[in-house]
Amino acid sequence: MTCTTSPDSWAADSLVSMLDQRCSRRTFGASPLAASHLIRLLWSAQGATSKGGRTTPSAHACYPLSVATYCTHVEGMSHGLYRYHTDQNRLEALPLGADFHVERLGVGAQPWLNEAPALMLIGADTGRMNLHFADQGAERGARFAHLEAGAAMQNVLLMAETMALAAVCVAGIEEHAPEFRQAFDDTVSPLMVLCLGERSE
Ligand SMILES: Cc1cc2nc3c(=O)[nH]c(=O)nc-3n(C[C@H](O)[C@H](O)[C@H](O)COP(=O)(O)O)c2cc1C
Repeated sequence: MTCTTSPDSWAADSLVSMLDQRCSRRTFGASPLAASHLIRLLWSAQGATSKGGRTTPSAHACYPLSVATYCTHVEGMSHGLYRYHTDQNRLEALPLGADFHVERLGVGAQPWLNEAPALMLIGADTGRMNLHFADQGAERGARFAHLEAGAAMQNVLLMAETMALAAVCVAGIEEHAPEFRQAFDDTVSPLMVLCLGERSE
């Protein structure tokens, strides 16, 4: 079957437009990211919805994801590491070791990790998920957690698009970087980092 319609011919629906415009943006403007924008992006990843759920679907509503943010240039927020809490849409400041080196989070040279005003770190408790779904296979739970993280990633990228911000997902990460251990509980496996900020153009 040949598809005879294209995004141009669809109704000027905002989601069509956001999907059409979305792309990875790895350069950031000089202005700080507003704290209110950062919290909206965090909410997109794992916030509570008014229906009592969360912004991402979750297998058996297990909610295995953990979300943290590392801010260097966010208006109204001190440089530091914070954990996002879904309840009350709030941030908890975490101790930041002097040896926190952003460039260690990614594999290879990824300067956008250093240049982004804020990073969002997403990890998952894959062990808990594997136990929960053990009757479906040894790694089923981890697969579900990875799928959920992908949904969170796309939520953030599309929200960034609607806010005319720059964002890129870095999943080429060094899972064993000590920086992730500062951000997450020991049970949480790091999965990705999202670089976030104002656009440069
Ligand atoms: C699972 C996944 C991992 C990715 N990892 C990285 C990464 O480590 N570094 C990076 O700069 N971009 C990364 N990206 C972004 C891709 O490079 C990008 O989506 C791709 O080049 C297509 O471009 P677009 O997003 O502008 O459409 C990743 C994307 C996905 C979905």
